[in-house]
Amino acid sequence: MLVAPSLLAADFSDIKTEIAKIEAAGADLLHIDIMDGHFVPNLTVGPDFVKAVKKVTSLPLDLHLMVSNPENWIQPFYEAGATYITIHQEATPHSDRVIDKINELGIKSGISICPATPESNLEYLLGKVDLVLVMSVNPGFGGQKFIPEQIKKVEALEKIRKENRFAYKIEVDGGINDINAKKLITAGVDILVAGSFIFSENDYQKAVKSLRG
Ligand code: DX5
Ligand code: ZN
Repeated sequence: MLVAPSLLAADFSDIKTEIAKIEAAGADLLHIDIMDGHFVPNLTVGPDFVKAVKKVTSLPLDLHLMVSNPENWIQPFYEAGATYITIHQEATPHSDRVIDKINELGIKSGISICPATPESNLEYLLGKVDLVLVMSVNPGFGGQKFIPEQIKKVEALEKIRKENRFAYKIEVDGGINDINAKKLITAGVDILVAGSFIFSENDYQKAVKSLRG
C-alpha cells in the first residue's frame, strides 16, 4: 500500500522544505492537484509549478488533473516531469483518446471518477489505464469529509480487476484518515492520497505510517 501526500495541504510559502520533510517521512509518491476554476470551483497550479517540484524531489509525481479539456494539458505536464497523469472521466467526452495519448508518451495513465459517477462508466477504459482514482469527496478543495459509500466502488473495482486480470492500481483521494484507511485497505486500495491528515500533524512520518495500517 502506497501513500501519496497531497501537496495542496502543504505550506506553499516553504514548499521546498515541505517536500524534503514529506520525502523523509516515507512518502511513496507526491500527489499534485491541478485545478482550473472551471471543472472544479478552485484554482491551483500549472506545469511551471510541477517543473519546480521536479527539480527538488526524486519521488514520482502523481498529477491529478481536475481540468476541463484535459487533452490540452497532457504534453505540458508530460514535459514538466509527470510520472502519472490522471484525468477525470467527467471532464471530457473523449477520455479514451486522452488516455491513449498519455500511454503513447510512455508515462502512466489514470482515470478518475467523482463520487456521483459509477465505476461502470469506466468499463471500456479499465484495460488500458495504469490507475483508477476514486474520489471520496467532491473534487475542488482539501479538508472535506470522507464519503463512506465510495468504499463500495473500491471493492467493485478490485473484483473487476481480479476477474479480468487487469493491472490498474486503485487510488482513493479525499478526506482520508487513519480510520477510513483501514477500511479502504481491506477493500483493496493500492494508493492512498492524504492532504490535511498528514500536513496538519507535526510528525509527518507518524501520520504516513498510521495510514499504512
Ligand atoms: C481534492 C483533491 C485532494 C485533496 C485531498 O479535490 O483532489 O487531493 O487535496 O485533501 P484532503 O486529504 O485534505 O481531503
Ligand atoms: Zn487529488
